[in-house]
Amino acid sequence: MKPTLESLCDMPEVFQYGATAGYGPLLEFLNGYFELPETHIAMACTGSQQGLDLIARAYVNPGDKVVMEAPSYLGAMQVFGLVQAEIVTVPQNAHGPDLVALETCFAEQAPKMFYAVPDFHNPTGVCWSLETRKQVAALCEKYHVALIEDAPYRELRFSGEALPLVSDFCPQHSIVLRSFSKIASPGLRVGIVTGKRSYLEPLIKIKQGADLHSSVPMQAVLLGLLQHEDFDAHIDTIRALYKTRYEKMFNALTNYLPEGCDINPVEGGMFVWVTLPQCDTFALAKSLLSNGVAVVPSPVFYPQHQLASSALRLNFTNATPDELEEAVKRLSKGLSEQLAQPEAMQA
Ligand SMILES: Cc1ncc(COP(=O)(O)O)c(C=O)c1O
Repeated sequence: MKPTLESLCDMPEVFQYGATAGYGPLLEFLNGYFELPETHIAMACTGSQQGLDLIARAYVNPGDKVVMEAPSYLGAMQVFGLVQAEIVTVPQNAHGPDLVALETCFAEQAPKMFYAVPDFHNPTGVCWSLETRKQVAALCEKYHVALIEDAPYRELRFSGEALPLVSDFCPQHSIVLRSFSKIASPGLRVGIVTGKRSYLEPLIKIKQGADLHSSVPMQAVLLGLLQHEDFDAHIDTIRALYKTRYEKMFNALTNYLPEGCDINPVEGGMFVWVTLPQCDTFALAKSLLSNGVAVVPSPVFYPQHQLASSALRLNFTNATPDELEEAVKRLSKGLSEQLAQPEAMQA
């Protein structure tokens, strides 16, 4: 990072105003890096979160339907909520969205878009199967629903086989959001949106009104990092680190979680989702926090909190293996105590 930052001192041009779509050398590099088809362009945003906001502002009118899996990413619900979309959810299973429910929803509700996180979903960690990817793409084409594929965890695969983007199967019906927050630095606030030119041009127009452009020095830093000869090795290091931490946490959960709680293995990303007997997960999260364990209660990941099944999102990336083991012990003890008093736990 240091030499990349120092090189900015010899680049006075990046401290001027820049193009709204992004820093030219970065966009050029990304064309090859993402192997974009001829029809597609890339634009740089202030984090992929801004890309999502621009999509919502450009394309969603009050009352338009936006489909998501339930549970889903809180930041997406906020963005689509702000433009007064009607958020329609479909259940998620171990391979991705329930395809029967998805097709029924597309056929009966004529939604404008389907927002999805197919790689190591936030919050569940689910990675869609190849077959699901193909089928969702076919449904988006058949029912003319735009797919908004949000892929911030895609590079964090630590086991299993790499899969194509869902958008690879419906490139003319999709927009992809990429983030460098999980593999470079969240503080840089650089994300990338890609899609066919006609989909992206309205986003560039709105971004111009919003902030003229994202920070050019930070885009230049990102380019420097991506071109660094050790960048691939850096990602391999993160993957190996997260794999070790995940395995430690998953094994501890398998050993210590009380009866009635359930977990599914993940192949990458940052999260494990623990399903619980029905209980007040906010109260549970609060009491765990007072005991030094931070978890996120499931209702925050549902547009209608009261419809959430009880579960917790656990993050395994930011603690040492020993800390994770201790955290799981405290979590399991806290859970056992609370589940033993059902009257205290009802939501
Ligand atoms: C699914 C998902 N999308 C988007 C974002 C936002 O990423 P960025 O830092 O690139 O704005 C996050 C951040 O956690 C996320 O989990």
